[in-house]
Amino acid sequence: MMKFDPSQMDMQGVYKLLSGLIVPRPIGFASTLSAEGVLNLAPFSFFIAITPSPPHIAISVGARAGEPKDTLANIRHTGELVINTVSTQIVEQMNQTSGDWPPQTSEFAVSGLTAVPSDIVRPARVAEAPASMECVVRQILPVGGPPYGAHLVIAEVLRFHVRDDLVGERGNIDLAALEAVGRLAGTWYCSTAEQFELDRPVVGDSRSLGGRG
Ligand SMILES: Cc1cc2nc3c(=O)[nH]c(=O)nc-3n(C[C@H](O)[C@H](O)[C@H](O)COP(=O)(O)O)c2cc1C
Repeated sequence: MMKFDPSQMDMQGVYKLLSGLIVPRPIGFASTLSAEGVLNLAPFSFFIAITPSPPHIAISVGARAGEPKDTLANIRHTGELVINTVSTQIVEQMNQTSGDWPPQTSEFAVSGLTAVPSDIVRPARVAEAPASMECVVRQILPVGGPPYGAHLVIAEVLRFHVRDDLVGERGNIDLAALEAVGRLAGTWYCSTAEQFELDRPVVGDSRSLGGRG
């Protein structure tokens, strides 16, 4: 086994280990609104579900040349964001939005994606996304330091929007139809087209989420 001591490595090397070993990562496609009223869109693959009770998610927004990215600046201003699901149908547009576009440029315009008003929060949803989560920010935690320290944005989901055909009778999501995209290392991605099932072991009177949490 090779061993790596991150304290002796440059950040690029450490990033390669993190982004190559923590795979595949879901992509939180975040829409936010700037103080000047510009609708912003950007993908974040350092993205997790935290708890369903009540539903919380988090994205990690890294620094860019020592400055906060537009997403973080907007979140600090409005305290709101929408996380859209990236499907294979919109993966090219998602990639377009990840360029270093200036704050006055809306990535909706850059990508050609359509903004739909949200029900509760000010940032718009992406019409073409198969699902969206309207979120209010609960905590912003600085993690690490220069040059690439990040802010972990923890947000509560106030509303889920899911395309009609994706929700089964028991509330389960049709994963084959969702066609969610995962991020691998660098410029590589994967699809969820190939799936397999693995039953969880049931030990005694399991108290986790239906034995599946
Ligand atoms: C698939 C994908 C995932 C990304 N994940 C992250 C991430 O987790 N954190 C981050 O800071 N940047 C991430 N980026 C880069 C940002 O999307 C990029 O810096 C973007 O320009 C930020 O936009 P903003 O300035 O409008 O917030 C990712 C890019 C791509 C293409």
